Amino acid sequence: MGVGRARIAASILDADLGNLANAVRRVQAAGADRVHLDVMDGHFVPNLTFGAKTIKALRRRTQMPFDAHLMISEPGRYIEEFLDAGCDSVTFHVEIDEPIEPTLRAIKAAGRAAGLAVRPGTPLTALEPYAPLLDIVLIMTVEPGFGGQSFMADVLQAKASAARALLRHKAYGAEVHVDGGINRETAESAGATGVDVFVVGSALFVRGRDMGREVRLIRALADEGYQYGLNDGVPPIPRDKMVIFTGLPKPFARALMAEIEAGGVPVIMLRGDGVMNPDGIRDYDLLVPATVKDLVYERHADARDAYQARASAWRKAFIRERGIIPPTTI
Ligand code: DX5
Ligand code: ZN
Repeated sequence: MGVGRARIAASILDADLGNLANAVRRVQAAGADRVHLDVMDGHFVPNLTFGAKTIKALRRRTQMPFDAHLMISEPGRYIEEFLDAGCDSVTFHVEIDEPIEPTLRAIKAAGRAAGLAVRPGTPLTALEPYAPLLDIVLIMTVEPGFGGQSFMADVLQAKASAARALLRHKAYGAEVHVDGGINRETAESAGATGVDVFVVGSALFVRGRDMGREVRLIRALADEGYQYGLNDGVPPIPRDKMVIFTGLPKPFARALMAEIEAGGVPVIMLRGDGVMNPDGIRDYDLLVPATVKDLVYERHADARDAYQARASAWRKAFIRERGIIPPTTI
């Protein structure tokens, strides 16, 4: 898994299609964060690649997250197969003729991330009716159908912040993906638009290039672009960085964690090394992603203070009624 903010999703479209298992092994060894699976039906796009059965076979080869990019005319007809194949997210195109909402709901009902993709010529307003159901917005910066095409910087420039706005209902985990023409020459300008996930295909499978170095270079350049293009020169917060929000006795910590998670923010609860309680058990720390620390404070600082007050009353009552129990060593 990579450090930093940018996530690299390796597309295996331009890999040796006769040995996709090896391609997956290679992108994993190269440090890519996930596999991007381009499914084409020869109808929605003028190319034919692979389907759910191939993905299912690849699923047995790696734990890496699988992002399916369905460039097919009837995703609704095949959605159960892709979910059954073990895709962690499924993104399909808004330009299809069949109903869109039922397929988004099927993806979410299976506990996976749901996304919609737009061709370069399609305005983002086309996604507005479905925004509340979206976890992912994928911006195509090439015409879908083939790898190795040139990056359309103006398309991303025009759409990136609007894509972010479509996902503002999600407190955490919303993703804007850019797909098409990402490589060491284009990563920095793409990073400066605030994109989260960078799909990289042909640039990883160029003969003679060190794939690991390419992944590190593209990720570093994307983060550099974000740092100077959007973040006033401040390095981005690493996506996986967690910070301690507060420490509380276990039952109070659990209750506050439930409140925070109800708002869509993941929490890790760990036995801390802070306050030792009269029951012989230390406070538990609640850790939240550093990228949403301010939002958590804004939403839950009052509740935290209320729990702290209840915890202090509980400690006093415990000592009064049962004294102090020596620390338990579990
Ligand atoms: C194109 C696919 C892309 C493609 C990216 O229709 O959706 O994912 O594989 O490849 P590059 O990075 O070569 O543009
Ligand atoms: Zn793709």
